[in-house]
Amino acid sequence: MTVRDALTMTVSRLRERGNDSPEYEARLMFEGLFGLDRFRMTEERDRELCHEEEETLLSAIERRGRGEPLQYILGKWEFMGGEYLVGRGVLIPRDDTEVCVRECIEEIRGIKNPKVLELCSGSGIIAITLSELVRGCTVIAIEKESKAYEYLEKNIACHGAAGVRALQGDIFLCYDKFEDESFDALISNPPYIEREVIPTLQREVQFEPETALDGGTDGLDFYRCIAEKWAVKLRSGGTISLEIGESQAQAVTKLLRAQGFCNIRTVKDIQCLDRVIIGTKR
Ligand SMILES: C[S@@+](CC[C@H](N)C(=O)[O-])C[C@H]1O[C@@H](n2cnc3c(N)ncnc32)[C@H](O)[C@@H]1O
Repeated sequence: MTVRDALTMTVSRLRERGNDSPEYEARLMFEGLFGLDRFRMTEERDRELCHEEEETLLSAIERRGRGEPLQYILGKWEFMGGEYLVGRGVLIPRDDTEVCVRECIEEIRGIKNPKVLELCSGSGIIAITLSELVRGCTVIAIEKESKAYEYLEKNIACHGAAGVRALQGDIFLCYDKFEDESFDALISNPPYIEREVIPTLQREVQFEPETALDGGTDGLDFYRCIAEKWAVKLRSGGTISLEIGESQAQAVTKLLRAQGFCNIRTVKDIQCLDRVIIGTKR
């Protein structure tokens, strides 16, 4: 089968399996699996796929047809211009998280060699991006789950992110290991979905680890822990940046206010939904 025929076959099989954007995903598959971007596709359209390539492609189509996210099939995904390894056991980077990272960058840009604490790091997109975009920035990145932690370590190594130190730990337990008032900024995109909502989420999300989604009965367990146990790790004048679910702004604001934060504000995402809470430690 030629590259061109394989592309046509991929589009039609994805469409048959109910895929909403078969052309787009087929292109991403060819680029991600075989390095065939638009330019190389045109150049190599009459080349015969080798047996191994055909097997890889058929397996990818099959997995995608069963609802597995394309990102896991490709084994990598992009966040703010960087490429990150992903797979079963780690949350797929979301574009929404860029809002939280950009707000944090604005807050710490003027600080010399800022020290940042990131809780619930997953693939490491937040910690690594901060260390790459803010001069002299060092980040301690804490992640509990072993599979996710493996991706965190691999991504730190792939990016050569010397400013990021990964620690495996449970944020409900390990807060005593850090000195109070020792960070300029705290950032987190914790699990925040209400537990009973998880089974109703789209098919692709069901492939992602429940431990990355489950925020407890009301979705706020991690924010309560962060406000009560981790906020003291910030120095006076330090910044907290938390990604939130669209209906959680009021509740998270209240938690931060109770811990003496000021200048608390909500930032919206591109769809105009509340996405981030920022606050300053008094
Ligand atoms: C919503 S994901 C965010 C991942 C990554 N920061 C991102 O923005 O893509 C939450 C992460 O918290 C981790 N996690 C869950 N419970 C935890 C705990 N008790 N302590 C530390 N990390 C935890 C999950 O494994 C998951 O990687």
